[in-house]
Amino acid sequence: MSILATRMSRIKPSPTNALTGKVAEMRAAGIEVIGLGAGEPDFDTPDHIKAAAKAAIDRGETKYTPVPGTIALRKAISAKFKRENRLDYSIDQITVGTGGKQVLYNAMMATLDAGDQVVIPAPYWVSYPDMVRLAEGTPVFVAGREENGFKILPEELEAAITPKTKWFLFNSPSNPTGAAYTRAELKGLTDVLKRHPHVWIMTDDIYEHVIYDGFEFSTVAEVEPALYERTLTINGASKAYSMTGWRIGYGAGPAQLIKAMNIVQSQSTTHASSISQAAAVAGLEGPQDFIPRHNALFQERRDLVVSMLNRADGLGCRTPEGAFYVYPSCAGMIGKQTPDGTAIADDTDFVGYLLDAERVAVVQGAAFGLSPYFRISYAESTELLTEACGRIQRACAALR
Ligand SMILES: Cc1ncc(COP(=O)(O)O)c(C=O)c1O
Repeated sequence: MSILATRMSRIKPSPTNALTGKVAEMRAAGIEVIGLGAGEPDFDTPDHIKAAAKAAIDRGETKYTPVPGTIALRKAISAKFKRENRLDYSIDQITVGTGGKQVLYNAMMATLDAGDQVVIPAPYWVSYPDMVRLAEGTPVFVAGREENGFKILPEELEAAITPKTKWFLFNSPSNPTGAAYTRAELKGLTDVLKRHPHVWIMTDDIYEHVIYDGFEFSTVAEVEPALYERTLTINGASKAYSMTGWRIGYGAGPAQLIKAMNIVQSQSTTHASSISQAAAVAGLEGPQDFIPRHNALFQERRDLVVSMLNRADGLGCRTPEGAFYVYPSCAGMIGKQTPDGTAIADDTDFVGYLLDAERVAVVQGAAFGLSPYFRISYAESTELLTEACGRIQRACAALR
C-alpha cells in the first residue's frame, strides 16, 4: 500500500513554483540565470505598511485572532469594497485567508462534491484546475482565443455550462495573459450567468489595481447586482501592495458560504498571521498614491517587452491591459531546430531551449492550458528585461 493518497495522482506541483526552484538551483550551482517566471512585484512593501506591522508586534498583537480575520481588517475590507467597487459587504460576509490562494482553496473545499464542474477560462492561473481536482471537482476549460484578446465570448461560456456546473471561475486582469474584460465584455458574460441560476461565480480580482492606459476595472457583482447573491469576490494584498510574502487574501460573499469557508480554515490554518493582518489594515486604509506610480513603471516595462518581443523572429506578442505578464505566441518556432539539431516540437521545448541556450527562465503555455505560447513576468528592472529580451531575440534568430 502506498503512503500517498490517491488524490495525489490527480495533482502536480505548481509549475511556476517549480521553475522558481529550478532557477534557485542553477544559481546555487554558479550559473547566471534571468528568472522571468515569478508572479510578484519587484517593489518593496511600502514603509507605512511595514511600520504598522512593527507597531502591531510592539503592541503585543502576536496572539490568535478570530478565524475569519480581525474585526479591524474586515472593517477595512468592507470599506474597500464600498469605496472601490460600490459593493456592500458586512463583516460576517468577509473572510481573510493566508493569501488569495487559500481563500480560493477554502471555497473549493467548502463547496465541491465529486463530479461537480467548475468552468475555467483558459489560459488560466496554474493553481485553479488542481485546486478543483483536490476538492474532487472537475475543471471544464473554455479557451480564450488570441484573436479575442484571450477573452472568452458569452456563447462560449453558455456552451460550457451543464446541470453539473457549480462555479464559473473568472479572473480579470488575467494571470497569465494580462487580458482584462471591459465592463461591456463582462456584462456579456453576466447576462449568460443570469440565465443559469444554479451556477455560482468565483471572481479572482487580485490584479484589480494593476491596469494600464486608463483601463477601468469592474467586477461581477457590481456589473450585475442580480448575481450578488451567488458571487464570491476574491482579492488580496499581494499584488496591489507588494505584499506577496505577508500572505493576506480575502473573499466576500453570502454569509452562509463565508461561514462554511471559515469552518474549513478553522480546521487547517486557523487564520492568517496576526501581524500581516495589522499590516494589511494599513495597506487598505493608508495612502494609495504609490499604486499609480508602480503602474506607470510597469506600463513602461510592458511596452518595452512587447516591442522587443515583436521584433524577435517568429514571435508575436499582444499588448495586455493589466497584470504584469505577457503571453507571446511561439507558433512560428514550432517545427524549427536548435543550432545543435534538437527539434522544437512545442512550447515546453521552446522554453527549455531559452533556458539552456540563453539562461532565460520563462513558463511554457502548456502549464496554463493554452499552447503554443509562453508567459513572461515583467515585474523586473528595465535593464534586466532589456537583457532578457535581447537574449530571446538572439535565441529565436538562431533557430533554423
Ligand atoms: C490569478 C491569481 N490569483 C491568486 C493568486 C494568489 O495570490 P496570493 O495567494 O499571494 O494572494 C495569484 C498569485 O500569483 C494569482 O496570479
